[in-house]
Amino acid sequence: MEKLVIEGGMPLRGNIPVSGSKNAALPILFAAILLDGPVLYHNVPRLRDIATTNAMLRTLGCPADFTDASGNSVTVAPGALRNEAPYDLVRTMRASVLVLGPLLARLGEARVALPGGCAIGARPVEQHLKALEKLGAVFTLDSGYIIGRCAKLRGTDISFDFPTVGGTENLIMAAVLAEGETILRNAAREPEIGDLAAFLNSCGAKISGQGSDVIHIQGVTSLRGGAYRIMPDRIEAGTFLLAAAITGGECSIEGCPVEELTALMAKMGEMGVSLEPHDTGVNVRRSGILRGVDMSTRPYPGFPTDLQAQIMALMTLAEGTSTVEERIFENRFMHVPELSRLGADIKLSGSRAVIRGVKHLTGAPVMASDIRASASLVIAGLAARGKTQIRRIYHLDRGYERLEKKLAQAGARIFRAEDNR
Ligand code: EPZ
Repeated sequence: MEKLVIEGGMPLRGNIPVSGSKNAALPILFAAILLDGPVLYHNVPRLRDIATTNAMLRTLGCPADFTDASGNSVTVAPGALRNEAPYDLVRTMRASVLVLGPLLARLGEARVALPGGCAIGARPVEQHLKALEKLGAVFTLDSGYIIGRCAKLRGTDISFDFPTVGGTENLIMAAVLAEGETILRNAAREPEIGDLAAFLNSCGAKISGQGSDVIHIQGVTSLRGGAYRIMPDRIEAGTFLLAAAITGGECSIEGCPVEELTALMAKMGEMGVSLEPHDTGVNVRRSGILRGVDMSTRPYPGFPTDLQAQIMALMTLAEGTSTVEERIFENRFMHVPELSRLGADIKLSGSRAVIRGVKHLTGAPVMASDIRASASLVIAGLAARGKTQIRRIYHLDRGYERLEKKLAQAGARIFRAEDNR
């Protein structure tokens, strides 16, 4: 096992580059199952979840891998498709449920291990199944596997009970090869869905309305391969904005998307952080005091739940009181007891956290629990006095590419070490 060791107190300076988006790359890589030809993806982040996705594609019969040992290009070729997504891969990455739509569209059959819950909640998939049934799929459950069967999927008018990112992505991938038109209502609006639709349209699909809550998909008979560049990772970029702010530094976050981060940037502005977009990214600077704010997570374009833990780290040092309402996941406060070990003053009641600013944090050993909770502990450790050790950083490596190297290049005293305990 490995840990990160951080000596806090160094203001971040200089440029920090943003990698390709994990949450766009995962569905876009799985969408290769739908294609009749090979595809070359660029700007794919080198993460554990991407390695898991490539392994899943190979298990399903599609050769998939990075084109070299250090770059960010991945090729996926069509192959003789198998229909089973095995438990040992699905349990390490819930997003594997995204093979359901493509397998049903291509094979008319799919056996996908139930993803199970994870640290941040039960995360059921009933919205995916109900919507796929409307396209003509029939599901049974057998010893922990979802088994789906269908003749040719037929387009129809579908309304989700609430916006689900994965559900919207699964249905887009099922509908692109279905008979006729599919309409998805109350669809999720996250930018990663827009990137998936742009990729599929570049392969010959006919999708419109992505980014709004009503998406139209006109089924086609086949999709070609090609090449595609994954969009930048707005959550990684937001993590860097917050890291620079908590250290009182001044950085340019290179490749930072602006229109996809308006909710975060508005909140950071309220707290007293200066953010100036420029032609290659965003300058972030914080020299004065931080002011407490109130925030609740919501579906896009609201404040993203994937940045909730990270902004809470910044709030621990803000003057006055801040509140966080987590409205997306039922258990996304795993970072709170760990932030408290660093001296934060946070009270939880249900989905609400009340954070009273403290003068400073003090380094201590802490434990990572999920991708974004880990990032929150890194942000807090960068500002804490003395040494912070973050254990179980395999959680962090699922979602961040070379995080400690990027932060060290901007002046942070942070390094990775063996954790022999
Ligand atoms: C995606 O997860 C992201 N993952 C998550 O990022 C992100 O937090 C989430 O969207 C919300 O923005 C990827 O894109 C790979 P949902 P997803 O379906 O698709 C409930 C990260 O850190 N729900 O929009 O699983 C669900 O339990 C990860 O990068 C149902 O109840 O999210 C959750 O409470 C973490 N039934 C809420 O809806 C369903 O059928 C939102 O889930 C589907 C979802």
